[in-house]
Amino acid sequence: MYVCICAAVPEAEVHECIRTGARSVEELGDQCSAGTGCGSCHDRLAVMLSSAQVADLRSTA
Ligand code: FES
Repeated sequence: MYVCICAAVPEAEVHECIRTGARSVEELGDQCSAGTGCGSCHDRLAVMLSSAQVADLRSTA
């Protein structure tokens, strides 16, 4: 399922970008072009980034 329709970026690709270091919507755009079109996916991308950061914190706690 695409998270970003404009750039045809699936959820798995966004997760991979986060796993390899993307920490903001802008960095996701740089890495996989997600969020570089209309911007309507930015909220979803932000939620995915936040969830990953919470998971990171839990794994290091
Ligand atoms: S749906 Fe992601 S920029 Fe348009």
